[in-house]
Amino acid sequence: MLAPVEDSWLREKRRELLRWSQGQVLEIGGGTGANLPCYRESGRLVFTDPDPAMLGKSTRRLYRHAHETVRVQCRAENLPFGSGTFDTVVATLVLCSVSNPARSLAEIGRVLKSGGRFLFLEHTRGEESIARWQDRLTPVWSRLALGCHLNRDTVSLIQNAGFHVARLERHHPPVMPRLFHPTYVGVALNKTGRSVSRDEFQRSGNIGAQGGSR
Ligand SMILES: C[S@@+](CC[C@H](N)C(=O)[O-])C[C@H]1O[C@@H](n2cnc3c(N)ncnc32)[C@H](O)[C@@H]1O
Repeated sequence: MLAPVEDSWLREKRRELLRWSQGQVLEIGGGTGANLPCYRESGRLVFTDPDPAMLGKSTRRLYRHAHETVRVQCRAENLPFGSGTFDTVVATLVLCSVSNPARSLAEIGRVLKSGGRFLFLEHTRGEESIARWQDRLTPVWSRLALGCHLNRDTVSLIQNAGFHVARLERHHPPVMPRLFHPTYVGVALNKTGRSVSRDEFQRSGNIGAQGGSR
């Protein structure tokens, strides 16, 4: 469904956004791996999605990805990584679909280092008549589109979760149906990062803990 939008607008925005990635990167809800060809240089990439079918579809692109990648099946609400592990977390077209956005953002804040970057590209709740249509259609749409909400005020959710939004672009892409307007592309800095405790580090035999907890 996204193919025409991908070709005419989205791919370029992915590229622009991912220029801000650095160091150890976690991508949540990576789906079929549409971001993978758009990463510039980074350290190790941990690519995640809860859906095994999506992870399966990402295999070819992961294989071609130039940098070291690890694939993990997990939900944003419960990330199996140590606190303060990542320099960058990426979510594109994901926060509309997670079942608990506040908990997902708390988890992103936990696994990011203090001052780490959260890169996002998300369609959000609009204004006035668009918002009213988004409210009306979300119950049906979310059943058809794997939990996608048309009416989430995602930028406010990010700010309320304790991030500092350092860059924000608001778009009304002509190729996208108006129900997906506005779409925001942004870079938020983590203000909530904390150091991992020695106990926590020893308990977690997971990738995050091996990959650079402080
Ligand atoms: C519209 S797709 C976007 C895929 C990819 N990020 C992109 O930009 O093309 C939404 C993705 O979110 C994933 N997803 C759904 N619920 C999730 C959750 N609770 N935590 C993490 N990812 C989730 C889905 O499996 C799906 O791959």
